[in-house]
Amino acid sequence: MYVLGIETSCDETGASVVYRGRRICSNITASSIKLHSRYGGIIPEIASRAQLEYINFVVDEAVKKAGIKISDLGLIAVTKGPGLIGSLLVGISFAKALGFAKNIPILGVDHIQAHLYAPFLDLDRNSWLPKFPFVGLVVSGGHTSLYYFKDFDKFKLLGETLDDAAGEAFDKVAKLLNLGYPGGPFIEQIAKNGNHKAYTFKCSSNSNLTFSFSGIKTAVLYKIREITSKSILSKKQKSDLAASFQHTVITSLVDKAIYAVLLKKVETLCVGGGVAANKYFRKKLQNEARKKRIRVFVAEGKLCTDNASMIAGLGYQLYRLGWRDNLNFKPVLY
Ligand code: KG4
Ligand code: ZN
Repeated sequence: MYVLGIETSCDETGASVVYRGRRICSNITASSIKLHSRYGGIIPEIASRAQLEYINFVVDEAVKKAGIKISDLGLIAVTKGPGLIGSLLVGISFAKALGFAKNIPILGVDHIQAHLYAPFLDLDRNSWLPKFPFVGLVVSGGHTSLYYFKDFDKFKLLGETLDDAAGEAFDKVAKLLNLGYPGGPFIEQIAKNGNHKAYTFKCSSNSNLTFSFSGIKTAVLYKIREITSKSILSKKQKSDLAASFQHTVITSLVDKAIYAVLLKKVETLCVGGGVAANKYFRKKLQNEARKKRIRVFVAEGKLCTDNASMIAGLGYQLYRLGWRDNLNFKPVLY
């Protein structure tokens, strides 16, 4: 069965056709990020207006590139939330209209759960797939959460961030260092030339299953103020700050994810969300997990960040489990 996935939770307009929940036949994304760059963050009204303009073309392109016709689709899966309300409405309204006009079932899919579907996508036929039960870590711009998954529709939240999400902390620190948006890739880039032991930061939280990233952002701000009260921030100091910040955040993510896997006595950890594209994170996670004989599944970088393939893929699995939506379903904001 071919599934069309539509993802419009933030600034991007994504459409993808996925065959039987695994093979990505097309994955098209139009980003409005350039329209927001002068503001240093996403402006919801600008995002949804751009999505309204792009969505027709993006869906058309995804279907064409997959080499199929709209009538070949067995399901339209669309992000139901969480996300920006105007942006979600564009995708959901489009999915409803197309489904109604062409008599194709529709299904709203949770964006956070879909991030954990990324490791199930486009793997070689012979490669291993994650096995249930597993622990899932979502590390995105809006969420940092640990889940226990028994099936695609049976899961429990184990813990989440008490304040900022990990990606949000990367974005805010990048802003403090006058880097671009989104900040994660910029921090990763300059951290390569930095010493992660140059500054000592902490990510404190009162439990092994919860996270906290707002304190470290403030600590970086104070450190920058301290340095710039005496001299101008050098390139080396910027790199050292980025490396020290990145190391601390990533150590917290890795330690807690491994703790959750051991606590739940499972063998598998699935990771998704934009921060999972970070190579320092991926390497550290694989190294630490190997020591504890944990199998880690992280999708390739471009499937870690927002994409419509993960929506199509999870949509397919949920549809097979009997999930359906009617034309009345509404965006879910949480
Ligand atoms: O999952 P995602 O694409 O969107 C949300 O659902 O939020 O995640 C975006 C977040 C941004 O905060 C971005 O800075 C972060 O993921 N990110 C990274 C990297 N690439 C994206 N953070 C650290 N290192 C990266 N390489
Ligand atoms: Zn996301």
